[in-house]
Amino acid sequence: MDNVPTHIAIIMDGNGRWAKKRGLPRLQGHYAGVNAVRRVIEASLDFNIKYLTLYAFSTENWDRPKKEVNGLMRLFPKVIEEEVNRLKTHKVRMRFLGRLKELPDKVQEKLYWIEEQTKNFEDLNLIIALNYSGREELIDAVNKAVREGKVVNEEIFKGFLYLPDIPDPDLLIRTSGEVRISNFLLYEIAYTELYFTPTLWPDFEKSDLIKAIKAYQKRERKFGKVN
Ligand code: IPE
Ligand code: IPE
Ligand code: MG
Repeated sequence: MDNVPTHIAIIMDGNGRWAKKRGLPRLQGHYAGVNAVRRVIEASLDFNIKYLTLYAFSTENWDRPKKEVNGLMRLFPKVIEEEVNRLKTHKVRMRFLGRLKELPDKVQEKLYWIEEQTKNFEDLNLIIALNYSGREELIDAVNKAVREGKVVNEEIFKGFLYLPDIPDPDLLIRTSGEVRISNFLLYEIAYTELYFTPTLWPDFEKSDLIKAIKAYQKRERKFGKVN
C-alpha cells in the first residue's frame, strides 16, 4: 500500500460491550481485546506503519469497579511477558505514554524491562498509553517548563511532552461507535485525521484497519492552507 499513515493512534473501545453481548464479565472483553491488539500489530508491520499508539488505560479508568481495574493491572504485565519474543523477532520497539510512576510496581517493572529489551528496534514503534490523560500530559509539560524557568514556543513545548521524538498521529481511529476523544493526545492530534467505526475493539480485524487506511487516503490534508 502507498501513502500509508506514518503514525496511527487507536482508542481501543468496546471491550465491555463485547463481553456484555455474550453474557460474559467485562474482563473477558479485555482478554479478547488483546487478540485484536496482536492483529493490529501484525497488520501494521505488513503495511510498514512506523508508529502505532494504543490507548489502553486512561487516568479516569481507575474509577471503574475494583475487580476490573485489578484484572487489567494483572493483564498488562502478563501480556508483555508473553509477547516479548514475538516483538523482538519482528523488531518492534515498545514504549509507554502516561504517568507511569503511579502504576503498581509490578506493572512498572515490566514496562521498563520491555522498553530496555526492545530499545534498539525500529521496524515499528509500538506506544501504549497507560494511565494516560491528555490534560495531565499538558499540565506536566507546563510544570516542567516552569521548573526550568523556560518561556516556550511550539518546538520547546513539544520537548516537554512525554515522548517528544514521536511525530504527531496522522490517523486516529476510535472503535465502538463513540464519537469523542476521551482525553487522548489533546495536543498531538491538532491536525490528525479522525476515523470512527462502530466495530467493537475485540472484533477489530486487519480488514477494519485497511478500511480506515483507505478512508485516510481519500482525505485531503490541508493544514490550513489552500491546496
Ligand atoms: C476499552 O473498552 C478498554 C479500556 C478502557 C480499558 P471499554 O472497557 O471502555 O468498553 P466499553 O466502552 O465499556 O464497551
Ligand atoms: C477511553 O475509553 C479510554 C481507553 C480506551 C483506554 P473509555 O471507555 O474510558 O472512554 P469513555 O468513558 O467512553 O469516554
Ligand atoms: Mg469504553
